[in-house]
Formats: sequence, C-alpha cells, structure tokens
Amino acid sequence: MKSFGEKKMVRKMGFIADQAGIMNRYLRERDHWKTHLQNTKQFILDCFDGKKIRHLAILGSGWLLDLPLKELSDKYDHITLADVCHPAQIVKKTEKYNNISLIETDLSGGGMEFCWSLRKAKGEHFSKYILEDFEPQKPKIPGKPDAYISLNLLNQLDILLVDYLKKKNGRITGGEIKKFRKAVQEFHLDWITEKPGCLITDVQETILNSDGDSEEKKLIYTDLPKATRSTEWTWDFDLSGIYHEGYETRMKVQALEWD
Ligand SMILES: C[S@@+](CC[C@H](N)C(=O)[O-])C[C@H]1O[C@@H](n2cnc3c(N)ncnc32)[C@H](O)[C@@H]1O
Repeated sequence: MKSFGEKKMVRKMGFIADQAGIMNRYLRERDHWKTHLQNTKQFILDCFDGKKIRHLAILGSGWLLDLPLKELSDKYDHITLADVCHPAQIVKKTEKYNNISLIETDLSGGGMEFCWSLRKAKGEHFSKYILEDFEPQKPKIPGKPDAYISLNLLNQLDILLVDYLKKKNGRITGGEIKKFRKAVQEFHLDWITEKPGCLITDVQETILNSDGDSEEKKLIYTDLPKATRSTEWTWDFDLSGIYHEGYETRMKVQALEWD
C-alpha cells in the first residue's frame, strides 16, 4: 500500500515540489539561513527543562534543517517525526537511530482531503461559503507523545492549501480564505497546546525592492499561545530575489514554549 506521502493527492497538491523548493532555497541561501537555523535548534534544546517528557513529536520535520536530531535522540526516550512526506534522504538518515520513528500524515487535521475534494466544486460557490464546511480532526500520532514541537509549520498549513485552491478553484473569496486560514491555524494551536509544547513560526513577511520600498504581510490569523518562554528574530529568507522576483524577503520568526 502507498504511504500517505506517496499519494497522488500529495504530489498533485504541490507538497513534494514545496519540499524540493525548501531544499533548493536552503542551498542558495545557506549562509543567510545560519542564524535562523541555529536559533531554532537552540530554542528546541532549551525546551522542557525540568519536565518529565519522554516522547516528543516534531511536527513539520521535513529536511530536519532546523532540528538538532542527535541531541534530541540522546535527550528523550522517543522522537516521532511527522510530516506530510519524509524525503528519502531523511528516511535513510534516521534509520540508524532506534528511538526515532517517522509518520506521514496531514497535520492540518484533514485540510488536504477537504481542499482536494473542492478542486472541482465550482458551482456551489454561488450559494454558500464552502470553506466554512471544514471540520478538522485531530491528527493521530502513534505512541501518545508527551509534548509537541511545531517546527516552522504553522503558516505553511494554510498557505499550501489556499495556494492550491486559488489555482484550482478561482471562485473562493478573500474573506472566506481569511476565515479558513484562521480556522486551520486555530485548530493546530488548540491541538498542540493540549500538551506541553513549543511553537516556532514565521509571523510576518517583509519584502524589500532595490529602491528600498518595503511591504509587510502578516502570516498569522489568530492569537499565539500564552508562553512561559519566548523570543523572536529575523530570518533572511530569500536575498536572491527569487521567492518574490526582484525583492529581498525576510521573515519575522517567533519561538514560544508553554507548559
Ligand atoms: C517550512 S517546512 C519546515 C522546515 C523543516 N523543518 C525543514 O527542515 O525542512 C514545513 C514542513 O511542513 C510540512 N507540511 C506542510 N503542510 C503540512 C501538512 N498539512 N501536514 C503535514 N506536513 C505539512 C512540509 O512538508 C514541510 O516539510
């Protein structure tokens, strides 16, 4: 049987291409990403101090660029890496750890199937806001983790779904999309804050053209959890001007931990 990550839906919705895009951007921007990756790793290493956490689930593990894998494997009894798909190199890399397992699943709580099923449902938009029908279900992570780390995933959950819908179903309205983004993000945060956890997420994108004109775009549509520890930094995400053609793109990143 095909794994979740091998499904046609996953490929057709652009998730595999998006992962390849992350790696390509990393290879181009490696020096600019150093601080962001280091800050993320350090924040994670400092998490759960004095708490009894045995099994940690990492949500949005991808290429593990921002994850101190070896240190976490030494520190915790078990680590589950969760993503829509695990690149073959990561499957290979993690084989040697006997306390790391991988799971492929939709961490948006079913948003992928929901948007996939809407790709041809164009007529219904004349009579109702169809995105309001989304009823997310908690993703199932085997082995009952004691804590979650949401790893540069939160705004990716809605962006990838909405980009797909915009391409496939042009009748969805701006207001409806905003509500959907909020619902997806809120659901993720409600789910992960049921346990001790940590969230690392882009919260704002700034694009800057060569004339020095800049534009800011918020990426978060709901309130972030109350933190017991938090920090923020700027990520020099794309200084080559490829993500937004001709513009440098930087992200404001927030990292939070809660009990
Ligand atoms: C920006 S990356 C995070 C960086 C990642 N830790 C790395 O080093 O590649 C976001 C990750 O979330 C995953 N992702 C996005 N939407 C998802 C979803 N609905 N379910 C599961 N994973 C998802 C992507 O496949 C990607 O690997």
